[in-house]
Amino acid sequence: MTPVDLSAYLAQLKATVDATLDRHLPSENRPPRRLHAAMRYSVMAGGKRLRPVLALAAAEAVGGETARVLPFACAMECIHTYSLIHDDLPAMDDDDMRRGWPTCHKKFDEATAILAGDALLTFAFELLATQPAPGVAPDCLLEVIAQLARAAGVAGMVGGQMFDLEAENRQVDTVELQNIHIHKTGALIRMACVGGARLAGGTPEQLKRLKRYGEAIGLAFQITDDILDEVGDSQIMGKNTGSDRNKSKATYPFLVGLGQARTEAELLVEEALKSLETFPAAADPLRELARFTVSRTH
Ligand code: IPE
Ligand code: IPE
Ligand code: MG
Ligand code: MG
Ligand code: MG
Repeated sequence: MTPVDLSAYLAQLKATVDATLDRHLPSENRPPRRLHAAMRYSVMAGGKRLRPVLALAAAEAVGGETARVLPFACAMECIHTYSLIHDDLPAMDDDDMRRGWPTCHKKFDEATAILAGDALLTFAFELLATQPAPGVAPDCLLEVIAQLARAAGVAGMVGGQMFDLEAENRQVDTVELQNIHIHKTGALIRMACVGGARLAGGTPEQLKRLKRYGEAIGLAFQITDDILDEVGDSQIMGKNTGSDRNKSKATYPFLVGLGQARTEAELLVEEALKSLETFPAAADPLRELARFTVSRTH
């Protein structure tokens, strides 16, 4: 088995996901044109496509067909992009750069950005419920839809965003910060892994292990995001750095220092790799993706 070339792997899956998103997203030529343009602008601006790639890699890890998982992978990206559009709004993080371009509300306007986010969230569920996923039993799909709703909503990302806002400008300890990160970022990352494997026919034991993997890399990913906000290159990242400091956000580097934050992220990667111990070489892309969550520069 040749080692996984992660950048080629990412590029290949990203191209598949991008082509599928492009095919399904509503056309800018249809009204409401401005809304469709804003949805497409934010989705197609770029981004690493980590969540859809994780979903596809998790399917591969359990020996399933990735084609079955493609609508789910695209739905994950739509929900993630919606979360970014709303996260950047003046009422939230008030950021003006995203994925190398002006944020949605800067390029369009706040109302359009709010609606583009709303539309991407609902579109994700439409895609999942209407696109054929050959070989997936209806009760399995329904279960994944319910889990995705929970991961995106108050029990997951949206709840985490609220915890994040409530923690601004006040003392927060590492237990509370970890809880914020697990919800705002971890929930969707975990969901990508578990949902991808579930749709591809993973066994309960495999799903349990992938849940642990997803939780560990989800937290490692957000710790690294905090680190990059301090020390990253905004050109490479396509978003402004120093944003957390400006908003007096509690972050891992702020609470425990850069060195300790890096150590904790690396320990989480070890934990993630451990949960894949019983998986065959088909899980090698997931192994590389775990390392990527902390080694990345964007
Ligand atoms: C940014 O996510 C928001 C966080 C949850 C930290 P990504 O770093 O995955 O952003 P894109 O999709 O690559 O733009
Ligand atoms: C965002 O966390 C998590 C989301 C749910 C979007 P951040 O606010 O740290 O993400 P960036 O740094 O703006 O991408
Ligand atoms: Mg935020
Ligand atoms: Mg933000
Ligand atoms: Mg950040």
